[in-house]
Amino acid sequence: MSVPRQILVTSALPYANGAIHLGHLVEYIQTDIWVRFQKMRGHECWYVCADDTHGTPVMLRADKEGITPEELIARVYSEHTRDFAGFHVAFDNYHSTHSEETRFFANDIYAKLKAAGLIEVRAIEQFFDPVRGMFLPDRYIKGECPKCGAADQYGDSCEACGAAYAPTDLKNPVSAVSGAVPVRKSSDHYFFKLSDPRCQAFLRRATRAVCKTQPEAVNKLQEWLGEEGENRLTDWDISRDAPYFGFEIPDAPGKYFYVWLDAPIGYFGSLRHLAARRPEIDVSAFTRPDGGTELYHFVGKDILYFHALFWPAELAHAGYRIPTAVFAHGFLTVDGQKMSKSRGTFITAESYLKQGLNPEWLRYYYAAKLNASMEDIDLNLDDFIARVNSDLVGKYVNIASRCAGFIHKRSGSALAAVSGDLLAEVQVAGETIAAHYEAREYGKAMREVMALADRANQFVNDHAPWELAKQEGKDAELHRVCSEALNLFRLLTIYLKPVLPKLAADVEAFLRLAPLSWADAAALLPGGHAIGEYKHLTTRVERKQIDALLEANKESLAPAPAPQPHSQQRHAEHQQHAEEKTAVSHISIDDFSKVDLRVARIANAEHVEGAEKLIKLTLDLGTETRTVFAGIKSAYDPATLAGRLTVMVANLAPRKMKFGLSEGMVLAASGEGPGIFLLSPDSGAQPGMKVK
Ligand code: 2FM
Ligand code: ZN
Repeated sequence: MSVPRQILVTSALPYANGAIHLGHLVEYIQTDIWVRFQKMRGHECWYVCADDTHGTPVMLRADKEGITPEELIARVYSEHTRDFAGFHVAFDNYHSTHSEETRFFANDIYAKLKAAGLIEVRAIEQFFDPVRGMFLPDRYIKGECPKCGAADQYGDSCEACGAAYAPTDLKNPVSAVSGAVPVRKSSDHYFFKLSDPRCQAFLRRATRAVCKTQPEAVNKLQEWLGEEGENRLTDWDISRDAPYFGFEIPDAPGKYFYVWLDAPIGYFGSLRHLAARRPEIDVSAFTRPDGGTELYHFVGKDILYFHALFWPAELAHAGYRIPTAVFAHGFLTVDGQKMSKSRGTFITAESYLKQGLNPEWLRYYYAAKLNASMEDIDLNLDDFIARVNSDLVGKYVNIASRCAGFIHKRSGSALAAVSGDLLAEVQVAGETIAAHYEAREYGKAMREVMALADRANQFVNDHAPWELAKQEGKDAELHRVCSEALNLFRLLTIYLKPVLPKLAADVEAFLRLAPLSWADAAALLPGGHAIGEYKHLTTRVERKQIDALLEANKESLAPAPAPQPHSQQRHAEHQQHAEEKTAVSHISIDDFSKVDLRVARIANAEHVEGAEKLIKLTLDLGTETRTVFAGIKSAYDPATLAGRLTVMVANLAPRKMKFGLSEGMVLAASGEGPGIFLLSPDSGAQPGMKVK
């Protein structure tokens, strides 16, 4: 093993005014797996996070509930920490940005930027709510879109036509806080001078490195920064006027740091808070440029801008270190669609746990789907059930459950000394799996582990201990086979432990082992090692549990919730809002273009044994073929279908059916009366052509 590294890892700080949901958990689980892996490798790794407490939404929500912001954030803190613990997200410290530690760094960074001549005060004109006596953030102003005239649009963009604009362009604006007509009012704001040539030069030089593991992120940066000599970045407004829940700027009474200024600073605040009880942590080694430590931020792709531009620029010009890397991930979709309250797929962490679902099922499923890119990940519920049951129960746990009993009953609970090619191979595979974890290619790591689990099961099948147990004189072989299987099981447990910490702890108890680290894969259990009693390690997911979960999260089409301008939540809530507004009438062209419609040639059509309504179609898409089970048997004889062209949805999530996997859907018309009518393109269309 290489020299131990000193690593500080963060996940984005969730806003303190909303519940944690499965969308958030993609990031916390992704980060937690990485941190657990680093710790298992013997590195010093600290995982810190905090609630992001400041800003207008927290202030207004507390007001609405008739409590103080401090009371609100204390309540949300206990909810968030409960939910994270429930999913085994093991922060070394979970703090709050509303803390003296964060204030300390915010003041320090601000003072240093000011001393460097990078803070400028300018008067700007904004909408002001004369009834509430406050300036209005864009999302709290509504009016008619200046481009298309749609009513009831937010101050920054139109959900009907997609236009982006300044709130002052809205027609007939009203304050979403009080309903009053806002007035324009000028006040002094504090700006961080990102347009300063020093910042521009620094960002061109340094931020690429921060995003180097993600080419999509590097492209984004290039887009934001423009060509050499261009100055696309404008100065960043870091102050808000009272009333505001936040930190007052030291030398500017009545002016507060904007929430996005102190949010990332909260990472260091949380570390400093942790260091108060962990004397071995030298905070400055993580904050100064030459501390010899590493700093990684896991974030959603929507806040890459803050983490790859603003944050490094602030840090560098205040004399702090910059992040070693920022790792951006995509958003979560459920069954191929945005999370939706009306469909019940806007699933809170709390409800998942309350329904009695195992958090490690979700951890495993996310791990199996995650890679190092910024692509969205889909929680396909049928696939979730199938994969958890087949991999965790059918492959991994199966190895132990088939062998443990014989060791107890026939060998006094002690293992035989074992060795062999398969064991050696599984030991060697540890380094490949480690490289996948390090590179955040968890999907590859899981595939590798499950391929090894297949081999281990094959080994058990080949030696059939249940047969050996019945035969005279085969005791030694039975002992050897079961001991080898349990050693294989132990190795796989090491490799899965970052993802399944609770299950791994149960296995450690069962095999009577000290907590496993990665290096433990180098050795096997010695002959005579006594194991404990085997207890059931995990159960299968049942469809009815998922249905109950969706039901519990279903909400009727209520008015859209108050805006939540942040990360995954912003994404989800914002989309929710858009969805509910458009559910009745329109979808946008962007929504439509998400459906990948293709011309397909029916290469083969056949009856499905035992299916009343289905025909099994083999569809030729030019470059690939797909199997689709189509409910068109009442209208078509398979013999007449082969050779004809139709249209299919090519990007529908595959669906596991009783008869096999259906990899898409063909389009057919039907009305009130009988009859199903398959669509056909005009002559000349070729398989694979896009329909749009
Ligand atoms: O987007 C969000 O949810 C913010 N609360 C994230 C802040 S991350 C960091 F900068 F603190
Ligand atoms: Zn519009």
